Amino acid sequence: MTRWAILFALAGLTAAGPATAADDGATIYKRCAACHLANGAGVPGAFPPLKSDVRALAGSAAGRRYLALVVIRGVSGPITVEGKAYRGMMPAQAGLNDAQIAAVLNHVVRGGSAKAFTAREIAGYRAGSAALNSAAVGRLQPSVAGK
Ligand code: HEC
Repeated sequence: MTRWAILFALAGLTAAGPATAADDGATIYKRCAACHLANGAGVPGAFPPLKSDVRALAGSAAGRRYLALVVIRGVSGPITVEGKAYRGMMPAQAGLNDAQIAAVLNHVVRGGSAKAFTAREIAGYRAGSAALNSAAVGRLQPSVAGK
């Protein structure tokens, strides 16, 4: 890949143009994998798994809003994921547009029964969220039944 190709690939992450490879959920997930690992298993005590709890959260309105805001605003604990406490900090994933956030969340919850996230839905959660910091997002985490 030439330097220009790399620059265009990076620009594609922020451009709101027609769907490209950069809008593919699996491609976008690569930035999440740095912490949550490629298979979403996470690192106990540091980076939570993006597995059963996230799939359960995608099944409720409050959970869906929380998942979107985690990506848009970042999150800091205390939060509980699959029964374990996390008190770290996830930075806001800046530069992702609403369609890209919908795509990456659909990639993360794939295989679950929740309906797909759409760009329009994410835009609704983004509206009015600018005042929320990562700790405020953490307090929005709904508890998952059976935890
Ligand atoms: C720099 C590391 C890092 C990156 C990159 C990152 N995360 Fe996180 N993520 C975290 C940490 C740390 C937490 C837990 C925060 C805490 O300890 O309070 C977290 C929490 C979460 C949660 C909350 C899970 C739950 O059950 O409440 C979700 C969802 C999530 N991340 C999704 C993503 C997605 C999707 C991406 C990519 C777009 C991403 N993360 C990128 C570090 C990261």
